[in-house]
Amino acid sequence: LVALLGSDLPIVQAPMAGTTTPELVAAVSGAGGLGSLGASVLEPDELRAAIRRIRELTDRPFAVNLFAPHDQPEPTDEVVAAVDAVLRPVRQDLGLPEPVRERPLVPPDRFEALLEVVLAERVPVFSFTFGIPPLDDLRTVGVRVLGTATTVAEATQLERAGADAVVAQGAEAGGHRGTFAADFEEAFIGTMALVPQVVDAVGIPVIAAGGISDGRGIAAALALGADGAQLGTAFIPCPESAAPPGYKRAVLAAAEESTIVTRVYTGRPARAIRTPLLERLESSGVEPAPFPAQAALLWDFRSAAAELDRPDLLFLLAGQAAGLSRELPAAELVATLAAEAQEALARQQPARS
Ligand SMILES: Cc1cc2nc3c(=O)[nH]c(=O)nc-3n(C[C@H](O)[C@H](O)[C@H](O)COP(=O)(O)O)c2cc1C
Repeated sequence: LVALLGSDLPIVQAPMAGTTTPELVAAVSGAGGLGSLGASVLEPDELRAAIRRIRELTDRPFAVNLFAPHDQPEPTDEVVAAVDAVLRPVRQDLGLPEPVRERPLVPPDRFEALLEVVLAERVPVFSFTFGIPPLDDLRTVGVRVLGTATTVAEATQLERAGADAVVAQGAEAGGHRGTFAADFEEAFIGTMALVPQVVDAVGIPVIAAGGISDGRGIAAALALGADGAQLGTAFIPCPESAAPPGYKRAVLAAAEESTIVTRVYTGRPARAIRTPLLERLESSGVEPAPFPAQAALLWDFRSAAAELDRPDLLFLLAGQAAGLSRELPAAELVATLAAEAQEALARQQPARS
């Protein structure tokens, strides 16, 4: 895996759209891991500038990540009205105006324009989730390609499509489920069960993701047959991440049962820290708008969160091992993770001989 990625360590900092910054990516890559920029929320010009900034900060390889192209259905007026009705008392409490809904709620998918930037900038590694985009152009110019799978069948589809490695995302993972060829509930498989079955099924390197937040988890992933580990939540508290201070505090204070998987934030199942807003939407029983329109319906809360310093109004995406996170500069975190993993692997040696 390290030969494929050009990194020193089999540690990947997960792409996290809205949270990863060029500074975070460069710090991780500079420390020998593979930093990844979650770029799906950027405009093409912003992505170009971010890639150039990463290159100013490091000459080590890094990854850019996009959501594979997907349908963006507009919700019906009834669905929008039902969601707004659940939120009305919260808006009134916060003094937020009733939003005026303009159609379309979701702008057209920018995938193609963003992919053009990835190709033109000759990004070293490209990763993706939510499906399988066309990979031929990327492979022609020598970009290494990592796809996300939540089942063995998805992993084998990725291998057949030409992915160079597969990220096996277990149910513990923070953020959106990458599931694209299965029922979400059936594809909700823990990292411990998923990783070895994916390893047995594919011939390409496997990167374990989901619930790994320290070196013990990385060692465990390697023991399961993975070639490396991808960690997201563990990097949220880093000073280089774009998460607001309240989000970082919530991650550091989280316990193992602080998160749930919910569709109420974006319309697609995602693991996040429970908040009163999330619980109100969940307990209402109101069907969320389809992905990503639901996120557009909640957009004013995210702006209000910053203005009112209310992190509980943000989408606090995080995994089940959030409580193991530490507030360390990213390079120091990478070095700590590597040392801890080595220590954990060494502890296993006597048992093996
Ligand atoms: C805040 C946040 C945002 C995420 N955004 C993305 C993304 O843009 N693209 C992607 O492929 N995965 C995304 N993920 C999922 C990660 O790639 C990875 O599967 C996950 O973080 C691993 O679980 P962990 O958080 O327990 O380490 C995100 C995860 C989090 C926590």
